[in-house]
Amino acid sequence: MAIELTRAQCSALVEEALDARVYAYTPYSGFAVGAALLDINGTVWTGVNIENAAYGPTNCAERTAFFKAVSEGVAEFIAIAVVGGPMGEEPYDFCAPCGVCRQVMREFCGDDFKIILAKPGEMKVYTLSELLPESFSPQNLQ
Ligand code: THU
Repeated sequence: MAIELTRAQCSALVEEALDARVYAYTPYSGFAVGAALLDINGTVWTGVNIENAAYGPTNCAERTAFFKAVSEGVAEFIAIAVVGGPMGEEPYDFCAPCGVCRQVMREFCGDDFKIILAKPGEMKVYTLSELLPESFSPQNLQ
């Protein structure tokens, strides 16, 4: 059954993503992203993007949050908030998850998983099936 979040709960998750974002390691792009992932126990796992001089090993904020949780035995989730923009500035636009992160979400989340995007004064809430329709998932391999 889909778990609905109130606007206040979504805003609280956005605040956690904004707080985490200060730790983004982005010397190459200068684009800092923060994520806050809510699991089914009510724990919030934050993540930031972590870049690398070789570029390819860069990890997005969303995946950092997922990998922190999964590596500690948590693999059921309700929602993620994502915020991003130029390092050291308030994000001025929405920052939607990249395709790789959407696929990682699909590994652990169902169609109703919520993806919350925010910029000052505005918030948009999507479901995973809206952002990744007709997806390839673990069910395909059963
Ligand atoms: N980035 C994320 O952390 N999440 C996304 O969904 C989009 C892109 C990061 C990767 C890279 O460090 C920087 O943003 C610019 O692409």
